[in-house]
Order: sequence, then C-alpha cells, then structure tokens
Amino acid sequence: MSIPVIPVRVVKKIAETTDICTFELAEIDGAKLPSFSPGSHIDVHIGKDLVRQYSLCNNSSETHRYLIGVLRDPNSRGGSRAMHDNINENDVINISVPKNHFPLLDNAKRSLLLAGGIGVTPILCMAERLALIGSDVEMHYSASSPARMAFRQRISASTFANRVHFHFDDGNKQQKLNLDDLLRTPGQDVHLYVCGPKGFMDVVLATARKSGWQEAQLHYEFFSAEVVKTDRDTAFQVMLARSGRIIDVSPNTTVTKALAAAGIDIPVSCEQGICGTCLTHVVEGVPDHRDMYLTDEEKAQNDQFTPCCSRSCSPILVLDLD
Ligand code: FES
Repeated sequence: MSIPVIPVRVVKKIAETTDICTFELAEIDGAKLPSFSPGSHIDVHIGKDLVRQYSLCNNSSETHRYLIGVLRDPNSRGGSRAMHDNINENDVINISVPKNHFPLLDNAKRSLLLAGGIGVTPILCMAERLALIGSDVEMHYSASSPARMAFRQRISASTFANRVHFHFDDGNKQQKLNLDDLLRTPGQDVHLYVCGPKGFMDVVLATARKSGWQEAQLHYEFFSAEVVKTDRDTAFQVMLARSGRIIDVSPNTTVTKALAAAGIDIPVSCEQGICGTCLTHVVEGVPDHRDMYLTDEEKAQNDQFTPCCSRSCSPILVLDLD
C-alpha cells in the first residue's frame, strides 16, 4: 500500500538553538503547497523506512512554504539525528500532505496555550492564528534555559508578545510555571492546548483534571511515547478477514512486524502509537490498546486499533485486511 508523497526542496536550514534546527520546505517548481490549519503536522520521509512527524510552525495562511522545527533528541531512534546530520539545504525530500490530529477551535472564549521545549511548534502556529483573528489567548512557553529556547525572537516581535510568558528551568523560582495557580479555575468555554515532552504533558493534564477541567476542554498531542511492553505479553493470532489467512504474533514482536514477515505491509510511521498511520479496522476480537492516538471512546468501541504497538486481549483478532 503506497501513500502519496510531495517532493519538496529544503530551502533553508537554520540552527535556532544548539539542538534545534528549522527546515523551510518548498515545492520544487515553486507551486503552492496544500493549505494547512494550526496544529497540523507532516510526515517527513527521512530515509529508507524512516518516517517521522513534525508539526508545521509557520503562519497557517502561507502556502509557499512549510516550516518545521526538529530537536536533536539524545534518545533519537534515528529520525532527529538523521534530520540534523543528513538533511541539508537544496536536498529534495518527500513529505505527506498536512494532517491535523491537534485541531484548534478558533471560536473559544479564551485559549490557554502551554508549550514545553520543542512542543512550541504547533503551539506557536496556534498563537499566531488566534492573535490574527483577535481571539483571547495566553501562552506559556517553558524551556530548560534561554539558550535552548527556539523562536524566542519571533515570539517577542509578534503582536501577541504581551500575552506570552517564558519560563526557564534554570531560572529563579518566581518565573517558573506554576500549574496549580494557572489551572486552578477552569473557566467556561476556555480551552487548554498543550504540547511538549511526555513528562511535561502528563503534569499539565493531571493538574488540569485534578482542578476540574473537562476532557472536552483539553487538547494535546504527544510527540513521543514509550510503547508499553509487559512481561505478561502473550502470543495471539490475527486473521485477515478477506482471505482467511491466520498469522501468529509471538510475545516479542508486533502485529505490523508479524504481518510484514508474512508479506503483508501495513504503512507505519511513528511505530509508537502516536500518529495513527497504521490504524486498522478490527472485525472481531478485543484489541489491547496501547496507543495514544485513539480517544478512550474510540478505544472502547474496539473496531479499530494501532497494530504497530497494540496487541490483543482475545486469542484471535480478525482484521479487515486481504
Ligand atoms: Fe504511528 Fe502506528 S505507526 S500509530
């Protein structure tokens, strides 16, 4: 199954901080790129079997370019390292059309935007959109130090600069992000958007929930996840509904890998249950959902799952595949 791609040229590669680079991408022939909305990301095909998702952080009204910011992750599984080391100006790379799993409501009474580190990329795009339409917005941006904070100049020069609070881990106590205070009173029709490292997001979301924020007010996108593996992972089988073939999935492999070994390729990207690229319909059986892509309501329906990381609670899962 092949997914359509757009070849683009790397027009600019800029080191924003010691470990964050931005890449400006444009159509090779100068044509317009597909439009996008704040919160969108693109899949970037970095190398053979290496696809990663990066949020678009330029103004969402632009169609002549996409801008992505990439953190060199010390725990890189290969993607961010390859972006930093191997992708340079004038290179041509393939990307997907923008997809949005982190949409912005632009009719909320007020929007509270929280960014941790490189999680600023979708948040910045949202802040610019909300400022443009005159919406009530407040942004908090945390980084480990000023030297590692990307886009500070762009934000400081923006029309919404006076509604942005910068927080630094290495700064004094007074300027640190106080989530208990910030999230204490969930206002009606106020929406909270958060993006950043998992630890940061977990604390923000836990504090919001503890303070009474409703799920419908919380919007978030995880960049990375640790796929849950337990000692209790057992073998199970998947049946391909359309052909009746049965494939064994051993405790040490994933459904996508077991299927690939049997010659059935399911497109994958993050392989961490974040992006939804591998989403597959379940005809029968009960998946053991381990992703962060599906909502709790979607998981409860048990009619789809992410085979890159999720497993099965039932001895056999029947999948809508040939
Ligand atoms: Fe991203 Fe499965 S490949 S969720």
